[in-house]
Amino acid sequence: MPNAKITGTGWYVPDNVVTNDDLSKVMDTNDQWIVERTGIKERRWVKDRKFVGAAALAEPAARMALEKAGKTPADIDLIVFSTMTPDYVLPASSCILQKKLGAVNAGAFDVVAACSGFIYGLSCAEKFVKSGMNKCVLMVGAELFSNRLDPSDRSTTVLFGDGAGAVVIEPTDEEGGILSTHVHADGGNYEILYVPAGGSYDPISKGEHERIYNEGLQFLQMKGQELFKIGVQRFSEAIMEALTHNGFKIEDIDVFIPHQANARIIEMVARRMKLRPDQSIVNIDKYGNTTAASIPIALCEALDKGMIKKGDLVVMAAFGSGLTWGSAAIRWI
Ligand code: UT7
Repeated sequence: MPNAKITGTGWYVPDNVVTNDDLSKVMDTNDQWIVERTGIKERRWVKDRKFVGAAALAEPAARMALEKAGKTPADIDLIVFSTMTPDYVLPASSCILQKKLGAVNAGAFDVVAACSGFIYGLSCAEKFVKSGMNKCVLMVGAELFSNRLDPSDRSTTVLFGDGAGAVVIEPTDEEGGILSTHVHADGGNYEILYVPAGGSYDPISKGEHERIYNEGLQFLQMKGQELFKIGVQRFSEAIMEALTHNGFKIEDIDVFIPHQANARIIEMVARRMKLRPDQSIVNIDKYGNTTAASIPIALCEALDKGMIKKGDLVVMAAFGSGLTWGSAAIRWI
């Protein structure tokens, strides 16, 4: 069985910067509250949202990852696209991305695991490659969430940003690469973070849209404090599972890349797990929570800054709606 290796990485965020001060002009919030409670200073939102979808954000990230891997779109034999904001109800955004790239030889499917989307998608890609089924998998996490936020809800709108990250995964005979991935879910808590309307359970159909719009059910609903506590717990468990499975200890981690949900969550997890400050990658100040895109964007930045070297142990962990959580352990080669 071959090992699976990340051979290319790419990312993209829209140019349009929305600062905390910009938001304080349109809602009852302020820079101090947002920075103290979340660590976010600014985020990127697609400016002209008409007829732009997640696949449009994914395309430049995917092209960058392919270039770094030395691959062309025709080389891709599978696209795994993690998003909770697909372009359409159907088809999958992976198919829209396939068309945009001209990846004519690829199979394509979407993964819906919200903020844990990158870990879930990576786990799928890893298995397709390690099984020998696929030789060049493009895995993207992309989210255009700004248009799902309730402009009258300051507790959610300030948190999220748009963006995309991509990795190319190929088989290798070298030791290392993706050592393990673990994924978990607890559907019993799904109402802590969800969008109630717009799916098959409560479709935005004629005669129903007025009720839905009046109650804001098409927007994200979140019980922030509950989520915070569960998040700290699940993050910590996810890290431990990745370490225990591979026989590592906390001090073996060279770089920890957490999903960027809240800088305070990351700090609390780091304190609990006794991680050194220099072990964690934090860039939520610039992009907010970009859900499935947050880990690959942070990965790209860490690589660009030379923070990840060959041979390093990189541990990733995520937590989000579902509720879902999971981890990945990667020996960088
Ligand atoms: O990616 C995974 C999904 N997301 C998460 O994991 C998020 C987890 N939760 C959190 O990050 C935090 O709970 C939040 C950042 C969402 C909220 O922080 P908090 O410290 O838990 O604040 P809170 O909800 O307890 O609210 C405290 C106060 C409230 O006012 P009162 O009732 O004390 O008068 C809120 O109305 O802060 C108020 N508030 C705000 N004030 C200014 C809530 N949002 C804002 C805001 N600006 N944007």
